[in-house]
Amino acid sequence: MKNNGLLFITLAIVALGFSVYAVKTSHDLRTENAALLEKLSGADQEANEEYELAKAMFYMQWHSGKLWFAGKNQNWELAAFYAHEVEETIEEIEEAQVEEDGHDISTLVHTMTLPFLEQVEEAIEKKDVVVFESAYKNLVQSCNACHQVTGKPFIKITIPEVPFPGNQDFTKD
Ligand code: HEC
Repeated sequence: MKNNGLLFITLAIVALGFSVYAVKTSHDLRTENAALLEKLSGADQEANEEYELAKAMFYMQWHSGKLWFAGKNQNWELAAFYAHEVEETIEEIEEAQVEEDGHDISTLVHTMTLPFLEQVEEAIEKKDVVVFESAYKNLVQSCNACHQVTGKPFIKITIPEVPFPGNQDFTKD
C-alpha cells in the first residue's frame, strides 16, 4: 500500500511535468505561428514596405531608362507611354505612404520628382527634343537627390548610354 502510494505520487508528478511541458510547447508553437502569419499577411510593416519600395524603384529605373531612348528618337507616342508608367509608379509610392529609416518617401517622391517628370511630359507634348533632354537630366538629378537625402548616396542613376533590354526598337515608324 505504501509502495503504491509512492508510485501514485511519482506518476502524478511525471504527468504534471509532462502537461506543463506540453502547454508550454503548444504556447511556443502558437507564438511562432502568429509571428509567421503576421509576416505573411504583411502586418510585419517594415519588411513589407522595404520590399515594395525596392520593387517600385526597379520599375522607375526600368521605365525611365526606356523613356530616354523613346524621347531621343523623338518617338513621342512611346515617350508619353513611358512617362505615364513612371508617373504611375510615383503615384503608387505616394499612396502606399512609405516610410523608410524615418524618411517620408511618399511625400519626398511627390515634391522632389513629380515636378521634373511633369517638365518631361510638357516637352513630350511640345515634341521638343532639346527641352526633353534637359528636363530628363533634371529628372535623373532628382532621383539621385532623393537617394542622397534618404541615406542611399551609393545608388547613382545616370543617363543611359545603351538601349536596353536589347530586343526593343525605340525608333518611330
Ligand atoms: C523619394 C525618394 C526617392 C526618389 C525620388 C527616387 N528614389 Fe530610388 N530609392 C529610394 C530609396 C529610399 C531606395 C532604397 C530602397 C530600399 O532600401 O529598398 C531607392 C532605391 C533605388 C534603386 C535600387 C533598387 C534596384 O532595383 O536596383 C534604384 C535603381 C532606384 N532607386 C532608382 C531610382 C530612379 C531611376 C529614380 C528616379 C526616376 C529614383 N530612384 C527616385 C528613394 C528614392
